[in-house]
Amino acid sequence: MPKRKKTAFKLPYIGIDHSNGYDVLYNEKGEFGVVLEVKNPVLQYAADPGNYNNFHQLYVNAIKILGEGYIVQKQDILSRKKFNPKSSGEYLQRKYDEHFRGRVYTSHQTLLVITRKAKPGFYTYSLKQINDFTQSIDKVADLFVRSQLPVNALNQNQINRYIRQILSMNFYDKELCLNNLLAGDEQLEMGDSAVRSISLVNTDTIDLPQVVDTHMERSDKESLKGFPIDNMGFLFSVPHFKTIIYNQVIEIVPQTSTQRKLELKRKRHSGIPDSANNMCVEDIDQLLEDIARNNQLLVNSHFNILVSGEKELIQGTSNFIESSLFQQGIIPSKNAYNQLELFRTVLPCNTSELKPYDYFLTTSDAALCFFFKESMSEDEISNFQIRLTDRQGIPVKIDPADLPMQTNRINNRNKFVLGPSGSGKSFFMNALVEQYCMYNKSETPRWLMDVVIVDTGHSYSGLCAYYGGKYITYTEKNPITTNPFAITREEYNIEKKDALLTLISVLWKSAEGKISQVESDVISNTISAYYQVCFDELSKIDRPCFNSFYEFALTFIPELIQKENIPFNIDEFRFVLKKFYKEGEYGSLLNEEVDQSLFGEAFIVFEIDSIKEHKVLFPIVTLIIMDVFIQKMRFRSKQRKALIIEEAWKAIASPLMANYILYLYKTVRKFWGEAIVVTQELGDIIGNTVVKDSIVNNSDTIILLDQAKFKDHYDEIASLLSINEHERKKIFTINQFDNTEGRGRFKEVYIRRGASGEVYGVEVSLHQYLTYTTEKPEKAAVEIYTDRFGSYQEGLDHFVKDYENSKMELNRFFSLVNQLGIPFGEKKEFTD
Ligand SMILES: Nc1ncnc2c1ncn2[C@@H]1O[C@H](COP(=O)(O)OP(=O)(O)OP(=O)(O)O)[C@@H](O)[C@H]1O
Ligand SMILES: [Mg+2]
Repeated sequence: MPKRKKTAFKLPYIGIDHSNGYDVLYNEKGEFGVVLEVKNPVLQYAADPGNYNNFHQLYVNAIKILGEGYIVQKQDILSRKKFNPKSSGEYLQRKYDEHFRGRVYTSHQTLLVITRKAKPGFYTYSLKQINDFTQSIDKVADLFVRSQLPVNALNQNQINRYIRQILSMNFYDKELCLNNLLAGDEQLEMGDSAVRSISLVNTDTIDLPQVVDTHMERSDKESLKGFPIDNMGFLFSVPHFKTIIYNQVIEIVPQTSTQRKLELKRKRHSGIPDSANNMCVEDIDQLLEDIARNNQLLVNSHFNILVSGEKELIQGTSNFIESSLFQQGIIPSKNAYNQLELFRTVLPCNTSELKPYDYFLTTSDAALCFFFKESMSEDEISNFQIRLTDRQGIPVKIDPADLPMQTNRINNRNKFVLGPSGSGKSFFMNALVEQYCMYNKSETPRWLMDVVIVDTGHSYSGLCAYYGGKYITYTEKNPITTNPFAITREEYNIEKKDALLTLISVLWKSAEGKISQVESDVISNTISAYYQVCFDELSKIDRPCFNSFYEFALTFIPELIQKENIPFNIDEFRFVLKKFYKEGEYGSLLNEEVDQSLFGEAFIVFEIDSIKEHKVLFPIVTLIIMDVFIQKMRFRSKQRKALIIEEAWKAIASPLMANYILYLYKTVRKFWGEAIVVTQELGDIIGNTVVKDSIVNNSDTIILLDQAKFKDHYDEIASLLSINEHERKKIFTINQFDNTEGRGRFKEVYIRRGASGEVYGVEVSLHQYLTYTTEKPEKAAVEIYTDRFGSYQEGLDHFVKDYENSKMELNRFFSLVNQLGIPFGEKKEFTD
């Protein structure tokens, strides 16, 4: 093999100087520039085409501020990294970390290099020029900041590191080591990697699409049709790359002289009539018209995709990029020979090495359409974070409560969860609640949380056992009792009185019943009079409770109706309410104080499946539980609180109860709490004004699971939940992307906080899956383990160990354990 000549790779810089708060990089030609770390404002999959246009306009303005003689070099860097979270202290959260550790993902960052071109000739230092320059940078930075986009100018060390990262095409390791560069015709080679430059245009013929917009619309899948995506959005799906640098260069050329040259060129071409010349004339006409009419700037532009990957795989990688460009009508440059040259021009502040043939002349508007606009979701910085995954399957932290309150995105923490049966509502809620409560036993908790869940299907039994919470199943022998009448003078107010009025109305008329104005006023008067006696004439009523209220009412009401001469069916009232009195069928329900230990409990599940169909009890017990929650809230000032109502909300969503629900939501907010209603029932929510006016209107967070099954009713759902067109598009991407490779089983969820929402993945470790699952046989198999071993954790550990040893499919393992009735590891002999 012939010996290759070695030449030193000379960096094109003379140094970095500090001026007016910026570290300014000088290149050998006397040009100087700053490197700014910026963000792309369009969240990937945000579904709103307006976002792309706003971004576009931001850069149009930036370019106008800078003006002639400036070069804008935007560099979007995609880098494959391995996810490496810090280990959590809490057991299930640690399992979550382990589940994702080492997962390869794409990270994205954006740098904006703004360079001042040098005048031809010798470089001379000019303070005024530097001052003008930094002032322009200040203005551009201000423009970004006013659009809520942070700008961070890199300092000397950071610039040096950035240059080294490019030279090694390595944005993933902390330690950088520069390999020898081997320049070939098709690619550069460094160590095991090959690097290729793919320029977007062919120099002589400008092979770009005739019309280009700020973004495109997807057409690859029926369900995703019309969904907006970045023109360069395919970069996120490039296979087998290590690093991609998308180098986007716009040089703002001298306008008048360039325009004059263009006009001359036009004249020359129109003199010789042939088809190629005609086309050229048309192009120039179009360009000149755009400039004249739309006040656009002429710019020289250059776009280059630099991609590195394993030597053996790089061909496939670049084929993918080229064919993706081709599909958009962009024919990449055939000039592969200048690979090293192109590589060098990617260095910040080194566009002066670009040759005239690397550029094409166009308007700033057209050039900016090729700017990369999307970014990926990032952790929200806050003290209250829960983890879901982004759409590529990497955990992201979001704040479902405090941060969006602080930024006025939401005004309350309440949530409304909707999805068809089996879509993963309870599973998602388990994931949420697990994280809500994860610090309750920690010695240094970031927060404490009390959770009360009303459920009808044992969806939270695993989690409750894991946290050692209180699991209360309603049975006739063991009913849930409370005494909603036991309040102090301080606690007695209009709202509490309304709540009692609702309760008594429901006891009398049932949840679906109607109460007349007179009846309502009579009961209201009775409550007032009752408490007056309770508080002022202590000897007359020994204890506020339903029994004493009932006795009081039976003497007070007849007097009242006689005095006022009004119709009121006191016999019916007496008879219907008697079943809640002393020896009546439900005599203990409203007379016995709540088990005081509940007030100290952080995690309580009320399981009321057994009375789901009971017309009298279901709504009343639901009311009782809500009352317990409200009472409990008053005792626990250090804890956040969440009341989660699955299905049971149906029992209370009647006009009679509307006020009570409002009271609940209002009180919850005042006590640092949130109410979450979970439902699958379309029929119950559509057209139900109580649901709309009290539940939905007071829930600033809407959480939707896969809505495909609801498609036929979507106009009604959209109107109930005030879902606009863009959000609807986002919602219908749930579970629609091809993003399952290399991931565990997961489902996606849409979370709208305030006006707009995002889709996240709900993917968890096997240990968490076993804790959350709502499938009966799966729960039963897990319980065999958790009952057998000392603690829930140990049960899970043994389960997973046995499962791994068994080398079976998970489903098979579940059924085998159920069949055995004992842990798999304890079986004597096994023949499958
Ligand atoms: N994110 C997920 N990852 C893995 N499996 C999931 C996920 N979400 C749901 N599942 C699976 O689907 C099953 C049903 O989910 P879940 O119980 O949450 O449905 P649901 O919407 O609450 O239904 P229902 O309205 O009938 O209560 C779970 O037991 C689990 O096996
Ligand atoms: Mg459920």
